[in-house]
Amino acid sequence: MCGIVGSIGLNKTRQYIIDGLKTLDYRGYDSAGLAFLNAEIEIFKEPETVDKLDASIPIDKDGKIAIGHTRWATHGKPTKNNSHPHLSFHREFALVHNGVIENFLELKKKLLKEGFSFVSDTDSEVIVNLIEYHYSTAKDVLKSLKMTMDELKGSYAIGLIHKGEERIYVMKNASPLLIGVGNGFNLIASDASPMIEYTDQFIELEDKEFGYISQSEYSLFDKDGNALDRKPTAKEAELVRHNLNGYDHFMLKEIEEIETVVRRLASLYHKEDGYAFDKEMIRKLKESDHIIFLGCGTSYHASLVGGRYFEESGVPTASYIASEWAFHPMFPGKKPFIIFISQSGETADLIHCLKIVKEHGYESLIITNTKGSTLERGCTYSLLLNAGVEVSVASTKAYVAQVVALLLLVNASYHTFIEPNALNKACESIANIRKSFKGVIKNIASEIKDKNDIFYLGRGFDYYLSLEASLKLKEISYIHSEAIAGGELKHGPIALIEQGTPVIVFITDKATAASMRGNVEEVKSRGAKAYIISTKELSKEGDAIVVDDFDSYLSSIIVSSIAFYLAYFVSLLKGYNVDKPRNLAKSVTVE
Ligand code: M6R
Repeated sequence: MCGIVGSIGLNKTRQYIIDGLKTLDYRGYDSAGLAFLNAEIEIFKEPETVDKLDASIPIDKDGKIAIGHTRWATHGKPTKNNSHPHLSFHREFALVHNGVIENFLELKKKLLKEGFSFVSDTDSEVIVNLIEYHYSTAKDVLKSLKMTMDELKGSYAIGLIHKGEERIYVMKNASPLLIGVGNGFNLIASDASPMIEYTDQFIELEDKEFGYISQSEYSLFDKDGNALDRKPTAKEAELVRHNLNGYDHFMLKEIEEIETVVRRLASLYHKEDGYAFDKEMIRKLKESDHIIFLGCGTSYHASLVGGRYFEESGVPTASYIASEWAFHPMFPGKKPFIIFISQSGETADLIHCLKIVKEHGYESLIITNTKGSTLERGCTYSLLLNAGVEVSVASTKAYVAQVVALLLLVNASYHTFIEPNALNKACESIANIRKSFKGVIKNIASEIKDKNDIFYLGRGFDYYLSLEASLKLKEISYIHSEAIAGGELKHGPIALIEQGTPVIVFITDKATAASMRGNVEEVKSRGAKAYIISTKELSKEGDAIVVDDFDSYLSSIIVSSIAFYLAYFVSLLKGYNVDKPRNLAKSVTVE
């Protein structure tokens, strides 16, 4: 994962690079670095934040040309040497790279034999040296890029500078890279957000394309070296810009956007005259005899909810964790249809699965928030969530949007499972949670923040919600947490309950409410402190939070807000970086 930026011809190159890296640090934030190209290549890097990087550069240092990088460590620890940009052995080239080179060890061996030496453990340093190696014979950077590309196996989005040339070279395969076309300047970045302050004209590079930008032009080539005629297209600033709008954290802002996201999605796909999904896709869905869902993390949790919607509509479904399925792919039924779920559309585990799906000749749908992402381009059909950019590593609004999209899709394909109007009512309940319960949730957060283990309990849809609630808490509060299906307690997990162990219980389903109350008694009698979240009709004296009644099918859409606020407040009270939790990144582009 990692983010790259580059600029040529802007007045404030350094500011663009520094601000751009901050904007892109959702892609990783283990280290940051930049290289200016003036008479010499000058590199600054820190295994630290972008602010620390900025502070380490002399105040008046700037340049006309620069490339920058924010890293999520894959090969090698987050040290200064492993940070990008990487300089080539003869100091002719500097490179920033997002992706993973699968055959880097083999290439490194070859370069070592040729007399090159390395200062880092990274796969990226191999690329810059391979380019320099080819340049020694080709004497032309574009030719060297093509020769390098022919040898590389894996994913890469690359920005490269070459001493003595006023250009930034680019090369891309299976990692995103865009050119921002300006008037008297040109930019590159991993997504459009850093560039949107400067231009709204973008070119998205396709796989195996390479070329360069200079101050006044750009030139791109396909994998065979044929010149391409690529014209920029406009992107809307509001869809691209990441800003806090007065909130302290993106996570809070994104939780509070959930109502808008649900309403927008519902009105986008449900019109007065019916559902506005791709008709061909709905036909294929209806014809299929088995639906396979693939997702990771939060998106996998959304697939559990959606899978249940489909199953209850009479279609056999199976939801799989993508990284598991990839090594034991299964295609049950005669006509399976594969649904990928991914906020980013860039998750490597899913891209691996898509390759397998294509090899077997099956069609697929991606439900994603990211237009133009690898999965969006690679799947047969796509359903965009239009939730707006989600910056916080902890996914919130995108999760709810995924569940809503699945609900609407079931309605459109089989029968009206939940009246679309119920979504408007759901939005009122979410608003009510926002207005009435933040204080209570914050109190619960302060009671549980210093605990070592926290459990979530639920059955059916409330169990799926528990899985998501637990993931959210652990990823930003670093507290060990587990979700347990109510009925499974007695089969082992209850052994973990001790005096004062917090157990957060969701009771929103009439069918299972009595059993859940039984589970509450079981954990309480072992000393647990139970925090019960229930609906009015199922509530009992002493419940921590009682929300408006709703159909239990909607619990992941409505009650997830409570779970998100809870995780947010715990992380905040513990003084952690809510939006950028340790060891994680927003797009997981490595397997
Ligand atoms: O972009 P994706 O939806 O494919 O990402 C999948 C997971 O990496 C992601 O949902 C992760 O679990 C979140 N950080 C959870 O909040």
